[in-house]
Amino acid sequence: MESGLENVVAAETVLSDVDGQAGRLIIRGASLDDLAGERFETVAAMLLDGFFEQPVEPGALGKAIGAARVEIFAQFAGLDPQLLTLPPTDVVRALIARLPDGDDLAAAVQLLAAPAVFVPAVIRAKRGEAPIAPRAEAAHAADVLHMLGAAEGEAAVGGLDTYLVSVIDHGLNASTFAARVVASTKAGLTSSVLAGLSALKGPLHGGAPGPVLDMLDGIGVPANAEGWIEDALDRGERLMGFGHRVYRVRDPRADALKRAVGRLAASGSANRSRIGLAEAVEQAALAILKRRKPDRPLDTNVEFYTAVLLEALGFPREAFTAVFAMGRVAGWIAHAREQAGTGRLIRPQSRYVGPRPLEAA
Ligand code: COA
Repeated sequence: MESGLENVVAAETVLSDVDGQAGRLIIRGASLDDLAGERFETVAAMLLDGFFEQPVEPGALGKAIGAARVEIFAQFAGLDPQLLTLPPTDVVRALIARLPDGDDLAAAVQLLAAPAVFVPAVIRAKRGEAPIAPRAEAAHAADVLHMLGAAEGEAAVGGLDTYLVSVIDHGLNASTFAARVVASTKAGLTSSVLAGLSALKGPLHGGAPGPVLDMLDGIGVPANAEGWIEDALDRGERLMGFGHRVYRVRDPRADALKRAVGRLAASGSANRSRIGLAEAVEQAALAILKRRKPDRPLDTNVEFYTAVLLEALGFPREAFTAVFAMGRVAGWIAHAREQAGTGRLIRPQSRYVGPRPLEAA
């Protein structure tokens, strides 16, 4: 038996495919390389179309999400201050839990809008700042930056869209599987999304970008990169943001995010020396890993440039997992609908290896 179900096919899906050998991510028939310039709403519509009574069209979905952001924002006024003592992802989870369960497109739209409203509001509330109201007519990524109180230039909005699209869906990862298991019981979309978010918050799934920044802080300046990395590897540590269980070549999401970081730097709306440091660290890490592990292809993964990009956009590192959920929520909803559509409860077997009662003599 595979202890982590590695080679078990647990679902058939038309949503996404991760080709680890070729370094390719396919979302509903399109390659991530071609989708990385699209808006979040457009790719979310691609994922959701066909899973509801009515067709899901990007323009209409964008408008509906905009209206839902405004509606959801109104609920934030009643936030229990006790909640704010929790980490941001846990606060966002508690707020999403207040949304009623449903299976229709209206329920899906509320869930697409919810993390986008709650994440910036929670970040600001933790800083003691008042929330900023959304604008129904704004593009989704632009409105998130507006609600955060961050710069909203073209490169920043495009950068956030690239991030949200890059993480929107990724095969049967742990959080998506969790969402599908709950959907198979017909519990409803809010419950599926909460299951996904609960799985995502674990450090083995959505938690690496924060430590990437800790590494950059530790290195400080490009000249320290080689020595710092050699020392860390000598201590038996792993370099955060490198290596992947599935990809044996470069993670295609890393390239899309690196390009977005480059555009931010060129636009002048990011700290160039921080980005220069990240590039120097990546170069040094790849060269050293290649020399030390010649038989194990270790390349940059999605977390490395996620960290650099989200920091440059103005998100604090403790909220990175919650920002991840803002994109992945579309994948969870689509998978939940796809799973519920099969009508089949997910109910695997376990093998009992504990003691048994003694047979009567
Ligand atoms: N830094 C240094 N060495 C690494 C490494 C890294 N980031 N990732 C893997 N290796 C080494 C391992 O130490 C191991 O060496 P060994 O055979 O001498 O013991 C070898 O490469 C194979 O490692 P393995 O554990 O089989 O890789 P994996 O496929 O199970 O691990 C990760 C995948 C992602 C868990 C792993 O690469 C890692 O821990 N990366 C850092 C954390 C990270 O960035 N996570 C986000 C993933 S999107």
